[in-house]
Amino acid sequence: MSALAAALLQKIKTRQARTGVVGLGYVGLPLAVELGKAGFHATGIDLDPRKIAAVQEGRSYIPDVPTSDVRALREAGRLDATAEFAIVKELDTINICVPTPLRKTKDPDMSYIVSAVEAIAKHLHPGILICLESTTYPGTTDEVVQPILEATGLKAGRDFFLAFSPERVDPGNPTFQTHNVPKVVGGLTPACVELASALYGSAIETIVPVSSTRVAEMVKLLENTFRAVNIGLVNELALMCDRMDIDVWEVVDAAKTKPFGFMAFYPGPGLGGHCIPIDPFYLSWKAKQSGFDPRFIELAGHINGGMPHYVVDKIAEALNTKRKAINGSKILIAGVAYKRDIDDMRESPALDVIGLLHERGAQISYIDPHVPEVHGHEWSGRFDLRAADVGPGNFGQYDCIVIITDHKAFVYDAMVAECDLIVDTRNAIKQRAGNVFRLGAPHPQEEALTRN
Ligand SMILES: NC(=O)c1ccc[n+]([C@@H]2O[C@H](COP(=O)([O-])OP(=O)(O)OC[C@H]3O[C@@H](n4cnc5c(N)ncnc54)[C@H](O)[C@@H]3O)[C@@H](O)[C@H]2O)c1
Repeated sequence: MSALAAALLQKIKTRQARTGVVGLGYVGLPLAVELGKAGFHATGIDLDPRKIAAVQEGRSYIPDVPTSDVRALREAGRLDATAEFAIVKELDTINICVPTPLRKTKDPDMSYIVSAVEAIAKHLHPGILICLESTTYPGTTDEVVQPILEATGLKAGRDFFLAFSPERVDPGNPTFQTHNVPKVVGGLTPACVELASALYGSAIETIVPVSSTRVAEMVKLLENTFRAVNIGLVNELALMCDRMDIDVWEVVDAAKTKPFGFMAFYPGPGLGGHCIPIDPFYLSWKAKQSGFDPRFIELAGHINGGMPHYVVDKIAEALNTKRKAINGSKILIAGVAYKRDIDDMRESPALDVIGLLHERGAQISYIDPHVPEVHGHEWSGRFDLRAADVGPGNFGQYDCIVIITDHKAFVYDAMVAECDLIVDTRNAIKQRAGNVFRLGAPHPQEEALTRN
């Protein structure tokens, strides 16, 4: 190990290293807080002034990060936030956690990574460790990040250190959070991986070093493609079960009693979140550049992307039993976040379902204890929607309630008791009531439907 690398290793071990995190979102803020808790001084760099102000005032805006943690670190003088990249001059390590969305054409949008790395490059100095964490295609670290940083004249692996370590955070997961999810680390050189492992190892319980940045990049895409493909499979099974009058939920629950060789995935109204609907397309885009056509990813994308349309068909079928049409019906969407008990709306299938129902003339309202407003730019209707003030006692005013997200706070019994029709896309309602239509399950009996 070179003298430069040895000096940084020593600083990391003694917590003297000044750490930085670029991008203080769902991934970056928890990481900055873990670094602070591990005894480092952590500086968050973000372009969003609201996030900087919140951190500086000792407030958290990420549900998994308690405000008390941010406040305690601020009081201890171990956490700062700024929009100024000039701070990079004073930092020994930087973790990059900026967004990696898809363009409309499903091509990777690398603009956030490129702009963050260009801003870091202006202040790059010998002995610094740069770790990319944003989910991206294999080759990003050495094909995109390394050349921008080396354009300064400094050489990766010799003058500064470069690694990739995918983030695996699962927002809202009470058991697994940043500190206890094993961290895969790939470096450009053995010293790069050793330094990055030492940094993460001070804040995270288990480190899994791999042989290269490309392996580490591919690990994350395998994990998320695995989910996308398996969700696609079970969604297709749900469509099949619907046609065959078999309850897909009962099938999955029974199958998962097999103690080996099976892992339960559940159907739903479509994919959501910043990862599963997007990341596999980073891989397929890169694979196509090598002349390889990745069929599983495209097929899963096709099936999962069709689920909101299937949900709308199910709503039409339910309304039909009451001689009603979608056009003009009052429909309440229960849950718009992409999964249970979180506030994240990114890629939420609720946005597609609401858009499709709106196009067909439905009068849409929604309830979600975690999402007070759906902004016009988030969905095809282009106007703002505010969460309705509706609960037990006034569910009866709707022609149909559609459960898109099974938040624990919803009073399902009241929905079933008060509303004529429920379409349940999450198997949230355990009671087999005649007015409940579940995704991927047999229809309620005709005679049970005429309960007036
Ligand atoms: N959210 C998750 O559950 C999750 C899980 C695993 C991996 N990831 C990956 O982690 C990365 C970050 O995701 P996230 O959910 O934290 O995103 P996010 O949108 O919550 O946060 C990103 C932050 O980066 C900031 N930013 C954008 N450009 C910047 C720049 N040039 N300089 C400084 N700051 C900049 C934004 O203002 C924002 O605060 C993505 O690649 C994502 O795929 C996310």
